[in-house]
Amino acid sequence: MITGGTAGIGLEAAKQFLAVGAKVIITGRNQGKLDSVKKTYPNLTAIKSDVASADDAQFLYNKVSTLGGIDILYNNAGVISAPLNLGCANDKHYDRAAYEMNINYLGVIRLNNLFIEMLKSRKEAAIINTSSLLSYVPMNLAPTYSASKAAMRFYTVSLRDHLKIQKSNLKVFELLPPVVATDMAHGIPQKAITPEQLVSALIAGLSNDKLTIRVGITKLLYIISRFAPKLAYTIVNPAKNANMLRS
Ligand SMILES: NC(=O)c1ccc[n+]([C@@H]2O[C@H](COP(=O)([O-])OP(=O)(O)OC[C@H]3O[C@@H](n4cnc5c(N)ncnc54)[C@H](OP(=O)(O)O)[C@@H]3O)[C@@H](O)[C@H]2O)c1
Repeated sequence: MITGGTAGIGLEAAKQFLAVGAKVIITGRNQGKLDSVKKTYPNLTAIKSDVASADDAQFLYNKVSTLGGIDILYNNAGVISAPLNLGCANDKHYDRAAYEMNINYLGVIRLNNLFIEMLKSRKEAAIINTSSLLSYVPMNLAPTYSASKAAMRFYTVSLRDHLKIQKSNLKVFELLPPVVATDMAHGIPQKAITPEQLVSALIAGLSNDKLTIRVGITKLLYIISRFAPKLAYTIVNPAKNANMLRS
């Protein structure tokens, strides 16, 4: 099951997982988009569910249970807000932070919590959490987005360790994409890889049991952020970003 499977990386993942013979469920907030994906890929199951809604999450769990359950929960749904200058007073700072955190971080914890016993009961199962290269270095155009991804990375490391203490077979993968050419990355002034390239790397990582899947420039930036954090910050935040920071 892929959350946020109607566009971008999630839609590409649905395509590639179907191609390797998986049964695929996608979710999203927009019924029209779900219907359109279902029309193109009649073999998948599309369920309207907002990851930020407790009621929707419970509905999703009940529905999936009646379908026989899942083996992989791929937490892909995510949002980013347009840049604002945090140095200027603005009511939107809190509202947007809450919106991003509810979807990118808290929604994932809620879904994992709902599905964890189901997943642990399977012979082989996995959770895939999506963080980002921005979990290592914050982008000043997207402060809470970056914070939500850093939170996701710390949570993922802890969840993995807690399951290990329980001697559970449930695997917890972390996908760390670089900039990927989707609607979300529109306007981000960095070179992007395609969703196809990202999902191919994800599937290779899953096949090789590579729990931390750093793709493309994320690998290099990870190393730079360890040895030269100021340089890493400058790479992610070129001077021209300042022009995009509105009040
Ligand atoms: N693109 C990048 O450069 C990049 C880099 C690093 C990490 N990532 C991460 O990769 C993931 C996918 O990003 P993307 O670039 O594919 O984004 P995208 O093109 O904007 O697609 C996001 C998908 O998530 C769905 N979605 C958004 N909010 C949702 C919610 N509350 N509940 C259910 N579905 C929701 C959207 O459909 P609806 O809006 O119709 O619900 C859409 O299907 C995100 O977690 C993102 O943070 C992306």
